[in-house]
Amino acid sequence: MIKSKSSFSRKRNENMEGWRIVMCGAVFAATFSILYLENSSQQSLGSASSRHLIIGVISARDHFLQRDAVRLTWGSQIANIPNAELIFVVGEHDCHIPPDYRISQYSCEKWNVHMHDAEDASSKFFVKKLLVDQKRDTLAFSCYTGIGFQILHPIILESFSLSLELLLRVGNATIVLQDAEEILESLKVSHTSCTKESTKNGYCVVKLSYPLLLPRLFEGELRVLDADISESEMCGKNTFTLQPGKIQQCQWTNSSVIRYEFLRSKHNVLMKWNEEACPLLSALYSVTERKSLKEHVEKELARRREWKNHFDFVLRTIAIEQVVNGDMMVLSHQDVYSKLSQKVMAFLKRSTLDFDYNFLMKVDDDTFVNVSGLKDMVFSEDYSDPKIWSRFHYHRAIPRHGKWADIRSSSLSYPSFPAGAGYLMSRM
Ligand SMILES: *[C@@H]1O[C@H](CO)[C@@H](O)[C@H](O)[C@H]1NC(C)=O
Ligand SMILES: *[C@@H]1O[C@H](CO)[C@@H](O)[C@H](O)[C@H]1NC(C)=O
Ligand SMILES: *[C@@H]1O[C@H](CO)[C@@H](O)[C@H](O)[C@H]1NC(C)=O
Repeated sequence: MIKSKSSFSRKRNENMEGWRIVMCGAVFAATFSILYLENSSQQSLGSASSRHLIIGVISARDHFLQRDAVRLTWGSQIANIPNAELIFVVGEHDCHIPPDYRISQYSCEKWNVHMHDAEDASSKFFVKKLLVDQKRDTLAFSCYTGIGFQILHPIILESFSLSLELLLRVGNATIVLQDAEEILESLKVSHTSCTKESTKNGYCVVKLSYPLLLPRLFEGELRVLDADISESEMCGKNTFTLQPGKIQQCQWTNSSVIRYEFLRSKHNVLMKWNEEACPLLSALYSVTERKSLKEHVEKELARRREWKNHFDFVLRTIAIEQVVNGDMMVLSHQDVYSKLSQKVMAFLKRSTLDFDYNFLMKVDDDTFVNVSGLKDMVFSEDYSDPKIWSRFHYHRAIPRHGKWADIRSSSLSYPSFPAGAGYLMSRM
């Protein structure tokens, strides 16, 4: 075992010859890793083994270097803490879709490109509003003041547009485009600037002074605010008196380069996007870099093959890593960011079944632990009380964009929670 460890880490840096050795090792290693997994599952069926401290390092499958860095630095000092065990926690498989072919880098969802988005040069509205005749009067409709979206391939925004009805009521308003950090563009719209020619499908269309390029993976929101960009409620009383016998219907452009994510409604409540919604605003855009979008579609098969090779490489390398180090917990989870919390939960459950521990610690693979400080702590604190140590976040605002975007929660902030970099808790 020790011999194979040193020869592996030495050979990995060399070129062709190293490859062959790693490959041979892989077949050999895979057999052993199955034995190891069987052994460990047998263990968990029997009585749990007793440990004073378990440390789980949550790691992504291809973070070989991060895990080695931990093993070579603070991880090696864990042996100085009596009856402590360090475990790297990884998911069982990667996402089978190459990263560029996913809707987002944080989940494993296929991005299906429509060829017409690559071929059609015309400008389109996010959404078109139609007033259609309706036999009976109905006032049942909601007020939507914002559209949250993600860009999957670059687009150029040409114009913003605002509901004519709203404009006639409020006189003037501002349309803004914002991302998680700031307002990127704002455009004041007044009913006097709205001529017959600039009115389309119930919206007043106002051209941007400069067209705006939104890059791939841009996430933002198009919002209507009042003239001085304050947060005043646009969904006020009498804003939406419809002509009798008419009902609004909206038609969203079905494009594979824009993903509509959420809608902002009355009192700033966010909800999941839905096709029936008729927002107060819209925007005119065209798809750019269409040649590269076309290539993207054409190269899919080749990219999938390359990714499969990478996928298999990671599979073999983890099998070897496990044989050499024997310090990994492989959970039956897919290793994507969006499933991270399930992975951590599974680690907590599995550790509680497998080990009769007094303390349990969770850290990320880029966390550096002060092992002597940790040792002092786990031998001075009483583990019979339920306790948790971490850097806590209190009243943390719920993000609506980016990596941590959360539109499921309608409150403004989260309950207190420990920071992901690390926490330590007693058993209870
Ligand atoms: C916006 O409209 C309101 C009400 O019609 C008016 O009082 C105000 O002066 C206008 N503001 C601007 C900047 O045009
Ligand atoms: C959008 O277009 C795709 C492909 O043309 C189609 O499969 C899908 O059902 C359409 N979605 C909607 C909501 O019309
Ligand atoms: C690590 O912990 C020890 C013991 O508690 C403490 O003396 C030392 O200052 C800590 N080191 C750092 C870098 O915080």
